[in-house]
Amino acid sequence: GPVTQWLAGMPKAELHLHIDGSLRAPRLLQLAAKHGVSLPYSSVEEVEAAYNFSDLQSFLDLYYLGASVLRDADDFYLLMKDYLEVCRVQNIVHCEIMVEPQTYLPQGVDLGVVLEGFDRAIAEAKSGWGQSVGLILSFLRHLPEAECLEMLTAADPYRAHFCAIGLASAERDFPPANFQTLYREAAKRGYALTAHAGEEGPPSFIHDALQLLSVARIDHGVRAIEDEYLLNQLAADRLPLTVCPLSNVRLCVYDDMSQHRILDLLDRGLCVTVNSDDPAYFGGDLLENFAALETDLSMSKEQALLLVRNSFEAAFLQNEEKNLLE
Ligand code: HPA
Ligand code: ZN
Repeated sequence: GPVTQWLAGMPKAELHLHIDGSLRAPRLLQLAAKHGVSLPYSSVEEVEAAYNFSDLQSFLDLYYLGASVLRDADDFYLLMKDYLEVCRVQNIVHCEIMVEPQTYLPQGVDLGVVLEGFDRAIAEAKSGWGQSVGLILSFLRHLPEAECLEMLTAADPYRAHFCAIGLASAERDFPPANFQTLYREAAKRGYALTAHAGEEGPPSFIHDALQLLSVARIDHGVRAIEDEYLLNQLAADRLPLTVCPLSNVRLCVYDDMSQHRILDLLDRGLCVTVNSDDPAYFGGDLLENFAALETDLSMSKEQALLLVRNSFEAAFLQNEEKNLLE
């Protein structure tokens, strides 16, 4: 529609993107063949037919299976290059990308190999078209906190590669309260702090991420709509939510896009942003997420502009850097 067309040419930021979630079917099949990894699919059509999820866990099972084809620095280079090419095409001038090194440990892939590939692609995009990129060191909450702390320490030699830490994977049985030492240790090291909360988990998990982990941003956070007191606090503090509309519908957080409350959150003064989460799995990049809001929620031009402005306000960048990009 016209609002999405107008947004296409506007500089935007994307703050909630799992790099493994950007691995598209053709690349997935190519890398599986390269490394002799056997998958339950043999064609792009079969891969995409399997991406029919009933909840977060049913997605995570296929997401970790997909990521298991990533083995060497060239694989990570191609993965990052593919996503940064989307940024160029969609005018996403700044992106903050979640990297989850614990995902690659079962395959014996070291963080140094991962970052060698990513660094090459990021350097090309920076010199190629001035792409701005931040990496978020994201931990898997279905694993014990002790293993997360080991990864935090293993990342110390690469501290300068990351702007922040995050917390992803299965939410319901793995509350923020379990990761207080991890977040305290990351804060000591000077990382900015964000965490997934209030996607499938209750609003109390958003409250606990703020109070117990001291996060500066919440990933998803859509279930804040159930708690009036929390909504007022998030609005008063301009505490950003990185909302992912297509993800929420594909993972059955909402029955369909017409049920999504993102524009209600925006109208109540919260600093909400639009993001694609795992675009290869949820059927769209950033602009397709905006397009769904225009089609199904009648997003206005004014609302669209606020959402884009919020994405820069919420970025883990210095104010001078924000002014240069916006
Ligand atoms: N939620 C939790 N963990 C994830 C997600 C998500 O939406 N995407 C990738 N890992
Ligand atoms: Zn996510």
